[in-house]
Formats: sequence, structure tokens, C-alpha cells
Amino acid sequence: MSSIEGTPKNHNEALAQRCVPEIVQATPEVWSTIKDDVMSFEKELFGLEETDISYAFQNTEATIAILRDVKTNEVVGITYAEPVAQAYQSGLHAEREKLPNAIYIQNTALDPDYMKQGLVGPLMDCLEEALRAKGYKFIERDSVVAHAYAENIKRKYGDRIMLEIPHSSKWGDQVFFRISLA
Ligand SMILES: CC(C)(COP(=O)(O)OP(=O)(O)OC[C@H]1O[C@@H](n2cnc3c(N)ncnc32)[C@H](O)[C@@H]1OP(=O)(O)O)[C@@H](O)C(=O)NCCC(=O)NCCS
Repeated sequence: MSSIEGTPKNHNEALAQRCVPEIVQATPEVWSTIKDDVMSFEKELFGLEETDISYAFQNTEATIAILRDVKTNEVVGITYAEPVAQAYQSGLHAEREKLPNAIYIQNTALDPDYMKQGLVGPLMDCLEEALRAKGYKFIERDSVVAHAYAENIKRKYGDRIMLEIPHSSKWGDQVFFRISLA
């Protein structure tokens, strides 16, 4: 877990400047360099194990963005996406439509010490820019209704939301969103 002593829990210009998003290659070597930082918050937030995330770094078609605090050199946020044909190929979402130009956001998380500072926006912008450059037209994601998360996504993306389907899941009520990258 990172510690940013003296940082108030509000939007902080200095913090925003030192937290820089970047696209990283989906390779096991990259994963090995960032896994300790990433697992320190993914474990705390979702109870995830390393294998729940490392698989994405074995998928050359995955697009992965991280947020790095350049002052401490720690990775303090991550989000990644996989083509829907892969994300929905079995199990949970097998029945979903698999648009060839859509990509599914599997995970978005920040180190709790870095939350509520407006840092998720730059991280998502970085991911979305890379996805546009690869030719994707839509992102898809599920967002929990709890903590007003789905409501926040709806407000954030507004007119870009093309499809919205509420559903129940083992994580509680969720909303499936298809969001235009245009
Ligand atoms: C979800 C999470 C990344 C948001 O980070 P945060 O620090 O709380 O949010 P920030 O202060 O950076 O930004 C908040 C703004 O971004 C928006 N936002 C939140 N999550 C977003 C997302 N995934 N994509 C785009 N925008 C998002 C909010 O609507 C809010 O907009 P507003 O300023 O207009 O109100 C963070 O709370 C987290 O890691 N939570 C635990 C993991 C989780 O629930 N992940 C989502 C399910 S995969």
C-alpha cells in the first residue's frame, strides 16, 4: 500500500501532476515489474489473487493502462480491456453480443490512498485513446449499482452511452454499459 503523507483527500493539483498514465505492453515481463504494487490494492479492494490479473498480461490483444506516481515510482492505478469475443467466450457473459469493434473493460482500480483526487479520468482517457488508435468503436463494462458507481458512469459518459442493461450478478446488482468511443 502506498502512502502519500500530507495529501488531503480532495482534488490536489500537485498529486495530479505527479500521477502519470501510460499504456504498458501486455507481457509477463511487464507484469512481474508492477505486480507487487498492483496486488497491494487489488487484493484490498476486490480480494483478487495474482492469477485473476496476470492472465491479461498473457493476452497480446489486451490493452492495459497504468497510473504511476512518478515521485515514488509506484503504480497506483490500473485499468485493462480485452476484445469482447475473448471476454464473453465462456461462463459469465457467454450469451452477450460480440461486436467485432467492441472491447470490454475488465478492471478499473486505484490505490485507496489515491482515490477521490480526480485521477481515474486521466487513466481512462489514456486507455480510451489507445483503444481508438487500435480502431475500436465501443467500450463495454459492468458497473455495480452500489455506491452509486453505475450512476457515476452514466453521468460521466452521458450521450456516449449506447446501451444500458441492468442485471444481477454475484457482486450484486450491476449495469452493463456499451459506450461509444467516438
Ligand atoms: C472506481 C475508482 C477507480 C474511481 O476512482 P475515484 O478516485 O473514486 O474517482 P476520481 O476522484 O478519480 O474521479 C471521480 C469522477 O470520475 C468518474 N468515474 C468514476 N469511475 C470512473 C470510470 N471507471 N471511468 C470513468 N469515469 C469514472 C466519477 O463519475 C467522477 O466524476 P465527477 O467528478 O463528474 O463526479 C475507485 O473508486 C476505485 O478503485 N474503486 C474500487 C474499485 C472499483 O469499484 N472499480 C470499479 C469496478 S471495476
